[in-house]
Amino acid sequence: MSSIMILNGPNLNLLGQREPEQYGHETLADVEAMCRVEAEKLGYGIDFRQSNHEGVLIDAIHEAGQLIKAGKLLGVVFNPGAYTHTSIALHDAIKGAEVPVIEVHISNVHAREAFRHHSYISPCAAGIVVGMGSYGYVLGLQGLVHKLA
Ligand code: DQA
Repeated sequence: MSSIMILNGPNLNLLGQREPEQYGHETLADVEAMCRVEAEKLGYGIDFRQSNHEGVLIDAIHEAGQLIKAGKLLGVVFNPGAYTHTSIALHDAIKGAEVPVIEVHISNVHAREAFRHHSYISPCAAGIVVGMGSYGYVLGLQGLVHKLA
């Protein structure tokens, strides 16, 4: 069975306890469980990851590129956290490894501080889900499958 990688950046391990007014009460384990159920419905397995380290996220994108070329992975649903707003290196990784990415943000970044309005990921994303809470991951999975499968 082909899989979809769900990749989470810095501080998303704190979901559930971190600023619940922005990010809700669901934990990352809850998000993983929700993604597993949805991916199964869509006919895919999931490879669910989180890292607080930019280089680890870059390596995961490179790995995803290899898995896609081997026909084992469809693409990546990616919440890059604050690296969204800073990381040219992640932008280059997505382009360089030719990985279809759906960018997901739990909160509506455009309704928040100005420094969250710019994304280095959006120009190389296949699609974007913003402000739909943790349900955005489910929408990201559906969008990826709808676009690519
Ligand atoms: C986030 C939005 C980012 O601005 C923030 O740094 C995060 C989470 C979101 O899911 O809403 O860590 O990506």
